[in-house]
Amino acid sequence: MSSDNLIQQAADILRTSKNIAVLTGAGVSKESGVPTFRDAMDGLWARFDPQQLATPLAFLQDPKLVWDWYEYRREMVAKAKPNPGHLALAELERRAPSLTIITQNVDDLHEQAGSKNVIHLHGNIARSKCFYNCQGDPTVVDVSKIEYDKAQGPPPCPHCGRWLRPDVVWFGEMLPVDQLDVAKVASISADVMLVIGTSGLVTPAATMPELAKSQGAKIIEVNPDDSMITRIADIKLDGASGEILPRVLEAMGKNA
Ligand code: APR
Repeated sequence: MSSDNLIQQAADILRTSKNIAVLTGAGVSKESGVPTFRDAMDGLWARFDPQQLATPLAFLQDPKLVWDWYEYRREMVAKAKPNPGHLALAELERRAPSLTIITQNVDDLHEQAGSKNVIHLHGNIARSKCFYNCQGDPTVVDVSKIEYDKAQGPPPCPHCGRWLRPDVVWFGEMLPVDQLDVAKVASISADVMLVIGTSGLVTPAATMPELAKSQGAKIIEVNPDDSMITRIADIKLDGASGEILPRVLEAMGKNA
């Protein structure tokens, strides 16, 4: 658990910063009950490796398997509620002159918590799109309006009849260019970047802290473990984001 002293140092930096960028990963949603990809899977899915399922090739080889796995994750995400970490970030946005959240998460828990300025680098699990983006990229489709036989696999695209897929970025795929550009601008403009609950293993998201640091930003990391980002962090706050972030907010308030 992080010392009060480090928490106060982080709070002082945040309080005096004009532009704040926040990079979040699966760790920030963990206390909401959404398991990370790298957590062991349980039940029916225990024998599968998520990193083998989350690829275009896996989908083409077995669309039903991949679609069903995402249905399982969708249900988990649909039940999840924002935790104190999400709520603290939304409160920080209300207090800060300029704050941008860059998230790798495909849930909408930041928005549910009240955050407004959120960039999704890896898509949105609640949405689906045509695998071939037959009407342009992305061809988003409302699955709730489609009747289909779940035993046969994913629903068909209403435009071209081929498969629909989740609107998330799979391993080996390009990130949405517009979102990535805004994320880079937010990173370059930041006086401080909070890096929360990410292993820093997946690029290009993981390159944002380096980019921010190269332009003079301070890096504050919140993670119970060390990550690929830890070596460039100016302050490392050890612990769960749902515990640490409310303490940082409280410390900001004290000397405000
Ligand atoms: N609070 C903060 N951090 C936590 C917590 C917590 N309560 N619990 C775990 N963590 C940390 C872990 O120590 C780990 O460093 O969260 C990190 C989660 O790492 P990953 O599972 O690798 O998640 P992420 O970095 O978001 O992965 C990037 O890879 O799985 C794919 O596309 C998926 O967007 C994802 C990307």
